[in-house]
Amino acid sequence: MNVLRFSDLCASGQVAGRRVFIRADLNVPQDDQGRITEDTRVRASVPCIRMALDAGAAVMVTSHLGRPTEGQFKPEDSLAPVAERLSQLLGRPVPLKAGWVDGVDVKPGDVVLLENCRVNKGEKKNDPALAQKMAALCDVFVHDAFGTAHRAEASTYGIAQYAKVACAGPLLAAEIDAITRALAQPRRPLAAIVAGSKVSTKLTILKSLSKNVDQLIVGGGIANTFMLAAGLPIGKSLAEPDLVGEARAVLEAMKARGAEVPVPTDVVTAKTFAADAPATVKNAADVEADDLILDIGPQTAQRLAAQLKAAGTIVWNGPVGVFEFDAFAKGTETVARAIAESSAFSIAGGGDTLAAIAKYGIEKDIGYISTGGGAFLEVLEGKTLPAFEILAKRAAG
Ligand code: 3PG
Repeated sequence: MNVLRFSDLCASGQVAGRRVFIRADLNVPQDDQGRITEDTRVRASVPCIRMALDAGAAVMVTSHLGRPTEGQFKPEDSLAPVAERLSQLLGRPVPLKAGWVDGVDVKPGDVVLLENCRVNKGEKKNDPALAQKMAALCDVFVHDAFGTAHRAEASTYGIAQYAKVACAGPLLAAEIDAITRALAQPRRPLAAIVAGSKVSTKLTILKSLSKNVDQLIVGGGIANTFMLAAGLPIGKSLAEPDLVGEARAVLEAMKARGAEVPVPTDVVTAKTFAADAPATVKNAADVEADDLILDIGPQTAQRLAAQLKAAGTIVWNGPVGVFEFDAFAKGTETVARAIAESSAFSIAGGGDTLAAIAKYGIEKDIGYISTGGGAFLEVLEGKTLPAFEILAKRAAG
């Protein structure tokens, strides 16, 4: 996609002494005391801020945190814990500014964090007056918030319409480059793992990927619905019987292209959904009426592992079993380790997937780990995200 890149502006000296407004996604999980429990997004935002500072810009950074009520700032909405973590990572103070829409005082070489942008009235609805005020704060707008790239809000979309210059930050650019490499120019075979509890939430992704991938590996409740579609018994496992027709259409579309949906041939079952429920491995055809399928079986896991090791590209979204319970984690672990050992370019995204990657300590062996949740899923659906649409429009003049 043809968008202006912030790295190019910096390299050509167009940023020195300029006011740069960076929209980051610093929406991180916190505990009850407001302490950050997982800081990947803060760390991922640092290269853009450093790039702007190194280029001699006066740097403003903002993000949303949670989903606050506009116009009603509450202490728990504050980016204060993020400001503290950012200043540790940057090794310099990062003052936090509230009430910033009408003016920000920052000198070249300095950085300020602008308080939760979703507290501003008009943010969610992309109010043009708010967006114009934000655009007036800067010479260059940098969109570096991939996690929020699927939202068209005042600080992500409107500001890009009105700012003198609007460009993609290094994180946003890296995410789209990785996704393009995986989906638009993949080394084949291209394998995608789409797992989760419901077909309904990922139907558009399944349909979109079924036109492109060589193996569509389904897992979790999604796999159960596909097993039903393949005529297999699933007992009382989580599934959506009314979507069996849709699942069958995906199976047929893949078959017609000479591609494959490897439906499980063996499974791990239990009689109750509990960490200490006795686990039984059985053939998929032997699932009983009171069984719950909680993982893929060892034979299926080995078959998938072999396919993943032979893949050229892997897209991974979702664990294939209830990996939070050790007795039902082996399928996800086998798949995770196969991806890690594969020479394929791999891209992974989504909260549960990142938790599985962390559990098995394979972060370094994944080609690219996306910071996007909903945004990653929308790209897999084949959508053009608003962030890229507006930046491409601005780049085209
Ligand atoms: C996320 O956590 O996925 C992003 O920060 C987007 O948040 P939102 O769903 O509240 O827009």
